Amino acid sequence: MSTNSLATTHRTDLCGALRSSDIGRHVRLGGWIHRSRDLGGLTFIDLRDRAGIVQVSFDPTNCSPEVYATVVGAGQETVVLIGGDVVARPEAMRNPDLATGDVEVRGTTIQIVGPATPPAIPVARARNENLAAEELRLRHRFLDLRRPELQENILLRHRLMQATRRFLSERGFFEIETPILTKPTPEGARDYLVPSRVHPGEFYALPQSPQLYKQLLMVSGFDRYFQIARCFRDEDLRQDRQPEFTQIDVEASFVAQDDIMRLAEGLIGSLWSEAGIEIPSEFPRMTYAEAMERYGIDRPDLRYDLAIMDVSDVFRGADFGITRSALEQGGRVRGIRVPGGASLSRKQVDEIESAAKKAGAMGLLRLKAANGVLEGPVAKFLPEGSAAHLGLSDGDLGLYVAGADRVSSAALDRVRQDVARRMNLVKEAENHFLWVTDFPLFEEDPVTGALGAVHHPFTSPMPDDLALLDRAPERARAQAYDCVLNGTELGGGSIRISDPALQGKIFSLLGIDEATAQARFGFLLEGLRAGAPPHGGIAFGFDRIAMQLSGASSLRDVIAFPKTTAARALFEGAPSSVPSDDLADLHIAVTGSDA
Ligand code: AMO
Repeated sequence: MSTNSLATTHRTDLCGALRSSDIGRHVRLGGWIHRSRDLGGLTFIDLRDRAGIVQVSFDPTNCSPEVYATVVGAGQETVVLIGGDVVARPEAMRNPDLATGDVEVRGTTIQIVGPATPPAIPVARARNENLAAEELRLRHRFLDLRRPELQENILLRHRLMQATRRFLSERGFFEIETPILTKPTPEGARDYLVPSRVHPGEFYALPQSPQLYKQLLMVSGFDRYFQIARCFRDEDLRQDRQPEFTQIDVEASFVAQDDIMRLAEGLIGSLWSEAGIEIPSEFPRMTYAEAMERYGIDRPDLRYDLAIMDVSDVFRGADFGITRSALEQGGRVRGIRVPGGASLSRKQVDEIESAAKKAGAMGLLRLKAANGVLEGPVAKFLPEGSAAHLGLSDGDLGLYVAGADRVSSAALDRVRQDVARRMNLVKEAENHFLWVTDFPLFEEDPVTGALGAVHHPFTSPMPDDLALLDRAPERARAQAYDCVLNGTELGGGSIRISDPALQGKIFSLLGIDEATAQARFGFLLEGLRAGAPPHGGIAFGFDRIAMQLSGASSLRDVIAFPKTTAARALFEGAPSSVPSDDLADLHIAVTGSDA
């Protein structure tokens, strides 16, 4: 795009776009006073707009006394219209750090069009300058958004959105909007509910995802759908979760897993390329079972190794209570070898152990190898030669958890992450994309044994595992896949159930009786009965992608108006209480508050 197309009645050029080729032109600019320096007899203004900053000099011999007085009196962040001539800066005054640094504008006119109160936080800070506390910045978000870093992030987000649309529409996908006032779709979080005024006691749900609508679009024959979809989930928030977030949501008909995975690789490749990064055209694949066995988590960070090993055999003969009872109860002893880990202090390993305990482990067994001999509280219980069996060389540290896999996997995942950080093992510059496949269809509640859907209840079982649904449903695998990057789940999807009878069976395994299934998902079942093609899809977390590509450390830095981790919008003050008359109109009575 040429910046000329941004010329308007008020301006001829953008401040940050002026170059030597503009020397000799008279320009009119509009922007914010970034900084103003009164050198007594000469005043310099750094004028800022979306394109950057240009220096404007006002010399009282070159403009009227009224203009000069306005220049001197205009405060920081005031919006002004300026007229002047572009001139070359003298050689010694050039600023190589500024794109406009070879020129300046000799100002002749100024008009204040947007007076500004003194900013509540320092604005438009450069990347390496200290920032005000985040809460304060969120409170004054419109000022913080003037910061170059946030401007760049939001612009990158815009480019990624356009690249998404381009990529998918070139491949025959239709962009179709689905409702925001919807019927609840289960994606594992709580719904945000919207009361109906005209139907007392009835509620819409804001969509957790467009899942059911996109499936119905396949039933309707659109064949290829996408949407840059806003989703809403009332769940515990973290750095990589927002209550309101954006998905690149995709669905296609007559497809199998591979088709969607290939398409998704192409989409991700084109987004990374938009940000100037070339990535492999295919991502490695790992089954869920392997991911859990080797890394203890279904979204492993492969920028470091530290794979988990099963060392039960080494401990089997050991007369050591903790490992013996774990093995007797059908558990295992698993752990990681930390090359050179003997250098970690006792205090550091204690801290790693408390992370493992938080994840449910009873404790963390530690062994060090020195001169071919093991050291550590359990060493004396192990036969000679165990160092070699554990793969421990001199200077290495072995960290082990005994118990059921459910516990040791979660604990060893934490240990792995903690150790990698402490030992600086994370290759920050690398990108390790990964598909995790063959997820279980169901997860069992450890207490009640009830089955829940690992992804969502519309996920198709693996054809080979259909027979398991009657015998051992907990062992059935799903045609589901997650796309993982460096330990973050970027996206996930599945092939859906297109057979209404199978969908009914899955509902019943999930403990959803027929009447409830009809009440909640009757429209989907009806759709499936109306002639449904085989179909499947995926949804990527768009904010997470933007966060990865901008190098931001929080989703809040890639969303124009984000919520805090307490789900509050700080500057506009949402959520907020509502006048009682409005509540009455909605047939709502507030009975109490935990606040
Ligand atoms: P899922 O629930 O896995 O799948 O969501 C898809 C992707 O959305 C992103 N995501 C989030 N991003 C920010 N904040 C959140 N609170 C949040 N929750 C999820 C993640 C995640 O991988 N309908 C299915 C997709 C499908 O089967 O096609 C779904 O929504 O990056």
